[in-house]
Amino acid sequence: MLTEIPESNQAAMPLFSSRNLSLRYTSRSKLGHANRSVVAVEDVSLDLYAGKTLGLVGDSGSGKSSLARCLALLEKPDRGEIWYGSRNLLEMKKAELFPLRCEIQMVFQDSASSLNPQLTVQKILAEPMEIHRWGSRGNILDRTRELLAQVELSTTLLERRPLDLSGGQRQRVAIARALALRPRLLILDETLSALDLSTQGQIANLLLDLQSLHQLSYLFISHDAMLVGMVADRIALMESGRVSFAPSAFTTHLHRAS
Ligand SMILES: Nc1ncnc2c1ncn2[C@@H]1O[C@H](COP(=O)(O)OP(=O)(O)OP(=O)(O)O)[C@@H](O)[C@H]1O
Ligand SMILES: [Mg+2]
Repeated sequence: MLTEIPESNQAAMPLFSSRNLSLRYTSRSKLGHANRSVVAVEDVSLDLYAGKTLGLVGDSGSGKSSLARCLALLEKPDRGEIWYGSRNLLEMKKAELFPLRCEIQMVFQDSASSLNPQLTVQKILAEPMEIHRWGSRGNILDRTRELLAQVELSTTLLERRPLDLSGGQRQRVAIARALALRPRLLILDETLSALDLSTQGQIANLLLDLQSLHQLSYLFISHDAMLVGMVADRIALMESGRVSFAPSAFTTHLHRAS
């Protein structure tokens, strides 16, 4: 466990790690043909560090979202391990895992469909806290206001619904919801991709500020290598389900170019 490691070595300890993760999708054929099988994630091992960003780039269909869903425990890989401290999350029982689910949150590309359009912003932000019995009604209301302030939105938006917000405001609400339970890791799957350049820049800066404020670890997924170069400390490349790590000279080059 982290507490058993001398303080001087703690900076080098990953917060989350995956080892040899593999996921295959099999779809049943309706016409009696052989089942179709796709290897989406193949033998992926990576480390994520507190306060740092691992960028993940790759072509469409290379497996980025499938890997993200495995790491966020939304999809069960066929093989492999996900370590958080001294625990392999894939070996834990559902009930044991429940409190740990707060630690890993995911923000998707399309908040118009990932946020329930029927709910107000207030309810969207309160919901994860209610599910995890985070505190009293009053505490939860205070926290929803605090979360909106953290993503630099006015509390006048609390009664609005997602479709009455701009794309940038909606992504900020999605980020605020992901932060509600004080996670350690945010998986950002094309979170900025649908936004115009100036909003992308504003939300990228917001994410960097939130990261240093809360020592968050990010897995930042994007098609856009330049954007990844702006925000990532290290860059991984995904191709046909496999991940390889870019040499640090490539990361430095992207940092300079961005
Ligand atoms: N639910 C699913 N059932 C069957 N196959 C799937 C499913 N989800 C993804 N796949 C397949 O798995 C592979 C990886 O898909 P994935 O969505 O992870 O790629 P991606 O890198 O996120 O792509 P994009 O950049 O377009 O979002 C693709 O071949 C895809 O068709
Ligand atoms: Mg994807």
